[in-house]
Amino acid sequence: MTQHAKDWSKSSWLNFPALQQPNWPDLDEHRAVLQSISQLPPLVFAGEIRNLKKKLAQAATGDAFLLQGGDCAEDFQHCTAPSIRESLKVILQMAIVLTYAGGKPVIKVGRIAGQYAKPRSADTEIVNGIEIPSYRGDMVNSPEARLEERRPDPQRLLKGYFLAAATMNIMRAFTRGGYAALHRVDAWNQEFVKSTPMGQSYERLGKHIADAINFMQVVGIDTDTPQFNQAEFFTSHEALLLGYEEALTRQDSTTGDWYDCSAHMLWIGDRTRQLDGAHVEFFRGVLNPLGMKVGPKHDIDEIKRIITRLNPDNEAGRMTLITRFGADKVAQYLPQLAQEMKKEGLQVVWSCDPMHGNTYTAETGHKTRNFSYILQEIRSFFEIHWAEGTVPGGVHFELTGENVTECTGGGRNILDEHLQRNYQTNCDPRLNAEQSLELAFQIAEMIRS
Ligand code: PEP
Ligand code: CO
Repeated sequence: MTQHAKDWSKSSWLNFPALQQPNWPDLDEHRAVLQSISQLPPLVFAGEIRNLKKKLAQAATGDAFLLQGGDCAEDFQHCTAPSIRESLKVILQMAIVLTYAGGKPVIKVGRIAGQYAKPRSADTEIVNGIEIPSYRGDMVNSPEARLEERRPDPQRLLKGYFLAAATMNIMRAFTRGGYAALHRVDAWNQEFVKSTPMGQSYERLGKHIADAINFMQVVGIDTDTPQFNQAEFFTSHEALLLGYEEALTRQDSTTGDWYDCSAHMLWIGDRTRQLDGAHVEFFRGVLNPLGMKVGPKHDIDEIKRIITRLNPDNEAGRMTLITRFGADKVAQYLPQLAQEMKKEGLQVVWSCDPMHGNTYTAETGHKTRNFSYILQEIRSFFEIHWAEGTVPGGVHFELTGENVTECTGGGRNILDEHLQRNYQTNCDPRLNAEQSLELAFQIAEMIRS
């Protein structure tokens, strides 16, 4: 049995300052909702969480590669089968490119089935001269810019739980029920991507895989197995609302260990990772694999101490450091961070979030990111880790399977003035399916070398 964290309980975080929590107008109602959620079934099981942690331990040594991605903020209204299928398709597509062309097993983790809460730079914003609370994710309030809609509503936590459960259910069906079978790779190619050079490269790759499967069948290898017919897919979200996370934290009956069963993997955002803050306190006691975002404003010493607190046994697979410096700053910050972690012998999976450090506002007023900067940050991330003798173990994206125009550049060269054509996100700009696939081909080359 694992050593339990000392002086920890699932509510000990309440004794520490928690940043980025909504100001719930009715605390009794908030408490009652959390009480209901704490009685509802967990969304994932401890065994699945342990399985993911084992796989992440392989990414730490370069024997697997982590692909994490999905919406910046999931939208309640997009909890539909087609929308979930499109997100799943693009991740499956990227994963198969990385596996086949990159030659490594890929660990697929969605920002999905619970990515409903957002940290914000300000508590309020001024819209048409009126001060209203900021949008904090669908689990808190509505993106609609009206005072009434922006009031934090605890019932949204409950709705978020049920929508996460519905998402999880259909994903389990898609990934286990034949939709994700390897002989169907060409069915994951989107109509709007098919005719593009990327779509065609993907079709060629699909043909190679089909030939390989056919060959195996001809020589008598059984391809009617889970390895061929199913995909393993894990869920994750930013663990921001600690009351919700606590309500889904359960003790595993087989080991007595505590797991946050709201998702397989949780990450702590760049804004809530204070050493003596409530988020670090909460997560030191649950055994899920944890991500931690690290941006330019960090103190290396604090990062080391947080990692030691969250992972005192230095267990491989427990910690993923998700760096998000920006293409122009990654060379300034990553080398030293990598050196220090290596010097201390701290086991981490190094993952690159090339999205959050590369955001800018276009002249049209849209928040956007440019494909070339995204690619450039990834390339620098790989080169720096190679130079430092550390392992580039994964990537973290905001993306969607839909044909949106939110990030500029890429094969179709989306320009600032095209952004308004199909700009859907409630929060940060996402790569569309074609841009995502293009990145997968580029990253596969890097993994291979
Ligand atoms: C995010 O991943 O959506 C996010 C808010 O990231 P960060 O904590 O890195 O700013
Ligand atoms: Co974001």
